[in-house]
Amino acid sequence: MDKLVIEGGRRLEGVVEIGGAKNASLPILAATVLSRDASVIRNVPQVADVFTLVRILKFLGAKVRHEKDRVEVDPRGISEPVLPYKLVSTMRGSICFLGPLLARFGRARVSFPGGCIIGPRPIDLHIKGIRALGADVTLDHGYVVAEAERLRGGRVYLGGAFGSTVLGTANVMMAATLAKGKTLIENAACEPEVVDLGNFLKKMGARIEGLGSPSIRVEGVKRLGGAHHSVIPDRIEAGTYMIASTMTSGDVTVKNMRLDLLSAMVDKLGEAGALMTEKNGSVRVRRRRGPLKPVSVTTLPYPGFPTDLQAQMMAFMCVVPGISVITEKIYPERFIHISELNRMGAGIILEGPSAIVSGRKKLSGAPVMASDLRASAALVLAGLVAEGRTEVSRVYHLDRGYENLVGKLRNLGARIKREKE
Ligand code: EPU
Repeated sequence: MDKLVIEGGRRLEGVVEIGGAKNASLPILAATVLSRDASVIRNVPQVADVFTLVRILKFLGAKVRHEKDRVEVDPRGISEPVLPYKLVSTMRGSICFLGPLLARFGRARVSFPGGCIIGPRPIDLHIKGIRALGADVTLDHGYVVAEAERLRGGRVYLGGAFGSTVLGTANVMMAATLAKGKTLIENAACEPEVVDLGNFLKKMGARIEGLGSPSIRVEGVKRLGGAHHSVIPDRIEAGTYMIASTMTSGDVTVKNMRLDLLSAMVDKLGEAGALMTEKNGSVRVRRRRGPLKPVSVTTLPYPGFPTDLQAQMMAFMCVVPGISVITEKIYPERFIHISELNRMGAGIILEGPSAIVSGRKKLSGAPVMASDLRASAALVLAGLVAEGRTEVSRVYHLDRGYENLVGKLRNLGARIKREKE
């Protein structure tokens, strides 16, 4: 297993190019199986979750050509819509095959994804959604088994205790594209990744209206064709570098990014003292003069502050003098980074779903470990500003969602390297 070794204290400076969005690429690649024709997807990030998804497509029988950021999927060879546990256990995102396989084959058998370190992560809303389209769904020895000779349009409300569901909306929308008649998804997720998936489906011939709003209307068609698509930039990767620039008092230009995808974070980072200017698809991030200011942040569904930047924002708060508060409304248990940040000298206490952060002038480097992608990113950010050496182990979490993190940070002047443990 590899670890990252960081010598803190360097200001980040230069240009970093953002890859395609992981969380748009996964459902878009899964959506290719809705057609019998080949699709070509570009700007796909080279991260472990994408490699896993490509492995799943090949396991199903699709022909896949994967070169750098381009993935060509020919799904003609798929005949058995079954996804076993060994394939889905490493990546919860594989649940997004349920809707497309069911719609295309009239049945699907997909291993139940189970919980993970950021909380229980149920799929009741996915199941409610495909049942509303007429599917018969049972749970059988750890598998979700869904059947419907032909799905029919329906009306479904996708709200749960923590708001809508991103992949649940993706699943129901994909299933509805081939259903007979009209579907209305209420309280649909408005995340840009869902919009990007919808735009890809429209290129395949799907009839969808209301993307980006809580009411998505789909009129089913008999068949979909293949399509060419370029994935939107990864707003979470971009947000991570924007926070890193501000934390290190740096001057980083984040290339291939749109600020409108991250309004809530831009608002909070600006309030804390960052200066962000957008020009020709790039965002330059510096610090205003004077000390950084503490802020209060609540994670919410889009366009609210993304839960996937909560941990990184907390690392930032650790070095902002004063009291900052961060409240997690999507995954109330997504706080495993707190104990590790405290090992580096942070002052964070947890009060229910809120973390109260007493900012310090300095963090001190330490060996740390996290068991989730974004928590690991937060520890890297903390390491960049900590005094001395930080070792972040279990790098495979970062490999799941950050393309070439070490190379990109080194280009910006960070002292960071990857070593065998
Ligand atoms: N929920 C339910 N029932 C369901 C589905 C979800 O109660 O059937 C709850 C969840 O437990 C959670 C909330 O609803 O409290 C939102 O979960 P959601 O379904 O929206 O999450 P997801 O679709 O499984 C995607 C991203 C996550 C990201 C969330 C929220 C992918 C592959 N994953 O997950 O990304 O945190 O949306 O924005 O798109 C990450 O990239 O690090 C990551 C975890």
